[in-house]
Amino acid sequence: MERLKNKVALITGSASGIGAATAKLFAREGAKIVIADINAEEAEKQAAEIRDRGGEAIAIAVDISDGQQVQQMYKQAIATFATINILHCNAGVLIIGSAETPPEEHWHKTLAVNLTGHYFCVKYGIPILKKAGGGAIAITASISGMMGEPDLIAYDTTKGGLINLTRQLAVEYAKDGIRVNSISPGWIDTPFNDPIYELTPLDESSLDKMIPLARQGTPEEVANAVLFLVSDEASYITGHNLVVDGGLTIKI
Ligand code: NAI
Repeated sequence: MERLKNKVALITGSASGIGAATAKLFAREGAKIVIADINAEEAEKQAAEIRDRGGEAIAIAVDISDGQQVQQMYKQAIATFATINILHCNAGVLIIGSAETPPEEHWHKTLAVNLTGHYFCVKYGIPILKKAGGGAIAITASISGMMGEPDLIAYDTTKGGLINLTRQLAVEYAKDGIRVNSISPGWIDTPFNDPIYELTPLDESSLDKMIPLARQGTPEEVANAVLFLVSDEASYITGHNLVVDGGLTIKI
């Protein structure tokens, strides 16, 4: 049960949902954890919960869309744990809108967090992984990056971008012993989808009818997939997009 023993893992967007579940699972597998999130108060609560269970964790407040804050985040992480071996780029935002409807700022905000924010995290994180002799990166994309959905112009664009960012990084950094994979969750039960429920008549029971496994996924089920991809069990897997969606994308 110590698949990540002696590893340091930094997880963005880990004050809530999928990131928080991944942080707890990684801690149970022996990793030291950096909870990095824009929500400082919730991030500290998550780190405290891990410490209360006997793990090692710190919280760092960061807005990943700001390159200077991302550099500062890494400085703080290194000051505490000396290195980083695993990076889970997971933070994201969802803003509803089509090409004509939302103000331009919504497009820019979504790209700033969901794409440029991840770019900053790998730009400044990869040198640290290289110095550590290699490592693993997991990027939370989405099934939204594999299809077109009404009213999600910016979100769908960024998530498609992340799937290909993953492939580009995988090819570029294989020589440095860094594996890079993405995870594409389907409908996962976190506060993230609240804006969609507000917009459309979809409710949880109609979702259950749409999904072959007939329910939403849990953050813990996504965390298990992330753990597999960053662990040595996936040592020959890089550039892969692992879909965790209860069969939603293979159903007509
Ligand atoms: P969540 O809302 O529970 O967690 C998202 C976290 O990201 C929050 O803690 C939030 O404070 C943080 N965050 C937002 N903007 C940030 C920024 N600029 N800098 C740092 N942290 C920031 O949502 P959930 O569901 O755990 O989402 C995590 C990832 O999973 C996102 O990238 C999302 O796109 C993706 N995803 C979620 C799905 C779902 O159904 N819940 C489906 C597919 C993908």
